[in-house]
Amino acid sequence: QRLDLQLEMLEKGGYEHFMLKEIYEQPRSIRDCMRGRIYPQQGKVQLGGLKEYADKLKNVDRIIIVACGTSWHAGLVGEYLIEEYARVPVEVEYASEFRYRNPIITEKDVVIAISQSGETADTMAAIELAKEKGATIFGICNVVGASIPRTTHAGVYTHAGPEIGVASTKAFTAQVSVLTLIAFYIAQQRGTIARNKLIEYLTELNEIPELVEKALKANDHIQTIAAKFKDSRNCLFLGRGSSFPVALEGALKLKEISYIHAEGYPAAEMKHGPIALIDEEMPVVVIATKHSSYEKVISNIQEVKARGGKIIAVVTEGDTEVRNMADYIMEIPQTAEPFVPLLATIPLQLLSYHIAVMRGCNVDQPRNLAKSVTVE
Ligand code: AGP
Repeated sequence: QRLDLQLEMLEKGGYEHFMLKEIYEQPRSIRDCMRGRIYPQQGKVQLGGLKEYADKLKNVDRIIIVACGTSWHAGLVGEYLIEEYARVPVEVEYASEFRYRNPIITEKDVVIAISQSGETADTMAAIELAKEKGATIFGICNVVGASIPRTTHAGVYTHAGPEIGVASTKAFTAQVSVLTLIAFYIAQQRGTIARNKLIEYLTELNEIPELVEKALKANDHIQTIAAKFKDSRNCLFLGRGSSFPVALEGALKLKEISYIHAEGYPAAEMKHGPIALIDEEMPVVVIATKHSSYEKVISNIQEVKARGGKIIAVVTEGDTEVRNMADYIMEIPQTAEPFVPLLATIPLQLLSYHIAVMRGCNVDQPRNLAKSVTVE
């Protein structure tokens, strides 16, 4: 048994939990995911796995993304990016719903299945269904040679390396990285993005691993925030645009490892219901970075403050406006809008991690959960 324990400690590479190790691996995993796929100086994205389908993507009318859990959240980020840059309509579906609702799919459709494990039963079934209807299926998977990548027509591996913690962390940011690459790849094929813009974005994307590294430096500060909220019973996560799926992912992370009830919402939806929940006991995590919906998010923060809610804001480094309003802030480095999900996710992972540890939860193996869900 001692040997087992020593082996496990070795595998954790000096970290207390696999989850923390995997959070810290993200600068490397994102770098690995982009290696050989982006050429910033040439303004070029190259995805070997999709090469044969470049024409199909150039003319595609609709993309359907199917996935479960965290992978579904990555899919939602993908929807924002693909629609914004490649101008292709995207639908994101829970695989478990898609498979049973007789969806309209034709040979013209491209279906992207996202799965870390590549073994999720519902995602597999959704692929089978879409395949029967003649769609072209791409996979975004992490585990090489798993069932899903073997059944799809083509795909892009995330190369995040093995993820042991049940709560997905580095697999999520790798999925988002691949989807970012796919959005730019399709945009490049379709000519919906100017070359100089692509050069600018790819140059910035190339720096994301360093910026993630920087974001991780806030760990100690985030731990002190976690101490203030560890006994909360509920928590709201708000974001707009592509930060909305990040809010959903933040809420999922908190609930699955700390067992605190958490909800993710688009910030503007608050007034249609969830605002009724807000009082002095309610922590509200808001993604309020300096991008297109900054001013709107500020008014959402004011709505929460006016009702006594406690604001924990994810802000762009150096921000003063939100700092003056929020109870606590977690800074992330400045980046271009398409890359905000990759950075804003980091403090949310750390916050959930520390809260769960302080509550004495089994962070790597939360109750009732399995790493890959191979049954319905
Ligand atoms: C996330 O932390 C969970 N482990 C879960 O939601 C997971 O993302 C989901 O079960 C899908 O798994 P997959 O990516 O392996 O298909």
